[in-house]
Amino acid sequence: MCGIIGYTGREQVLPVLLDGLTTLEYRGYDSAGVAVVGAEGGQLRLVKRAGKLANLRDALDGRTLAGTVGLGHTRWATHGAPSDANSHPHTDESGDLAVIHNGIFENFGELKAELVASGHTFASDTDTEVVAHLIGALREAGDGDLVTAVRAALQRVEGAFALAVVDRRNPTTIVASRREAPLVLGHRDDASLLASDVAGLIAHTRDITALLDDQVAILTPGAIELLDLDGRPAEGHRYTVDWDIAAAAKQGYPHFMLKEIHEQPQAVADTLLGRVDVDGRIVVDELRGGRSVEDELRSVDKVYVVACGTSYHAGMVAKYAIEHWAGIPVEVEIASEFRYRDPILTPHTLVVAISQSGETADTIAAAVHARNQQAKVVAISNVVGSSLARAADAVLYTRAGPEIAVASTKAFTTQIVALDVLALYLAQLRGALFPDECRDHLARRAALPALIAQVLESEPAIAELARTVSAARYMMFFGRHVGLPIAMEGALKLKEISYVHAEGFAAGEMKHGPIALIDEGGPVVALVTRGHVRGKVVSNIQQVKGRGAVVLAIATEGDTEIKEHADHVVYVPEVHELLYPVLTVVPLQLLGYHIAVQLGRDVDQPRNLAKTVTVE
Ligand code: G6P
Repeated sequence: MCGIIGYTGREQVLPVLLDGLTTLEYRGYDSAGVAVVGAEGGQLRLVKRAGKLANLRDALDGRTLAGTVGLGHTRWATHGAPSDANSHPHTDESGDLAVIHNGIFENFGELKAELVASGHTFASDTDTEVVAHLIGALREAGDGDLVTAVRAALQRVEGAFALAVVDRRNPTTIVASRREAPLVLGHRDDASLLASDVAGLIAHTRDITALLDDQVAILTPGAIELLDLDGRPAEGHRYTVDWDIAAAAKQGYPHFMLKEIHEQPQAVADTLLGRVDVDGRIVVDELRGGRSVEDELRSVDKVYVVACGTSYHAGMVAKYAIEHWAGIPVEVEIASEFRYRDPILTPHTLVVAISQSGETADTIAAAVHARNQQAKVVAISNVVGSSLARAADAVLYTRAGPEIAVASTKAFTTQIVALDVLALYLAQLRGALFPDECRDHLARRAALPALIAQVLESEPAIAELARTVSAARYMMFFGRHVGLPIAMEGALKLKEISYVHAEGFAAGEMKHGPIALIDEGGPVVALVTRGHVRGKVVSNIQQVKGRGAVVLAIATEGDTEIKEHADHVVYVPEVHELLYPVLTVVPLQLLGYHIAVQLGRDVDQPRNLAKTVTVE
């Protein structure tokens, strides 16, 4: 899960690459590098450094590397530790061509042994350098054509990857390809671009082609040709993105994460837009696709929800909504587990695969696994045209706009809302809800953006609270019912960006183990909003208070009694019990954020993590 950018056109390429890498740095930040093909004499120049992009800028030291064709890369290390030598780009034996790559070439050991046996020497430990040498060797052995050599090399490699090649001998061309890893192409009249995601391209164009698996793209200024691996003409998936350039900038916020937390009212409003027709019926056009799709959804007798990370927590929330509204049994499973077992899937099984990026390798594999066994797959994704969206039977898009911070926030709340709409839609299809009821439900949901905005007003109090608990060694979160996934999400936010040990538990399980961890003054966050389990959570609060915990309660406005049990209270407005997650997660996002800031952490780029995990 690295960031890739490429440009061939008339502008000087280095600033384009550095700006693109700045936008894509959230995808990986162990090391960064560029390759520029010089206009005169077709030289190929590489500069690369371990560490963040700032180190690469220092290494460039004001040099302009004149040229209008080039590649940039920001790395999240898989093969080979982060070091200058292992940074991309990598060259072939001749030094004429350079390769950048995201993913893993699984059979690189075998290929390397062959190349070493025929006299190749390597400067790094990476799989990427092996493939650069393989392309170079196949070109020398063949007719000297770069595209033919890339196609031949890709027929020999195994694994999931996106790669791009520049070449001194073809000074206006970039050759690129992908297999189960993201790569998008950008069209302009005077230039052609590529990037690992559209956030890297929107400053230049909104006219995008998603390259499909095993297609090879040949980019020249203003023209992009696609071939399959046998050299036959191919077509990608061309579309226009409506994301705003400003959406990928911080706009005065100190961090993307804080900006994205504050964008939640708008993101939720956009996700709910147009979901009810004049007759009060819920509209999910994406799932309509004619009577047969509706009939298939009507006959669903089992739902599996699969996802990773924060998206998995959104899936946990969805279980409550789908079982409650549509009356269909739901199992929620981590995608990396689901894909390697034998779930009982039939044509009446609906698999809901959730992924903000739509590029998480495990979630895509789980969706493919389900489709291969005849299950119907609906994707919930934030990225139009993403690999998951294309692998599914239908896709319901969240409309959160680009999410840049590694820790997911607005994607999560929009996923919950989209899944809730899906639950109501299934209920409507199955006759479990009358149009009047649907209208009421959607009206209630339409109030959510304003209610989130109200919760955001607690930020100063939460920032203050963060100061008082930031020295804690650990923090526990607990809740019941829909409070459980939010406890887990609150803990995930904190551990991801502050590196404070944090876990979320079912409140009822505290006494079966986790309570042993509590010592005097240990902070515990309790989700204790109004609903049928409130009293039970209050009992659990008393149990931890009795062992010395300092309790922060997230409770419903007007619940003054909770102050007798908790040391601190953050209130959220009253909503339907199943809708609390959209509100209660917000103070926990802010708490995680402000603790991380207090501790001086790199909030948007936490250590060891990356935004999108396109490898296993
Ligand atoms: C990574 C990110 C998380 C995200 C997870 C799933 O771990 O750091 O923030 O929740 O991937 O990503 P997806 O794009 O599939 O929702």
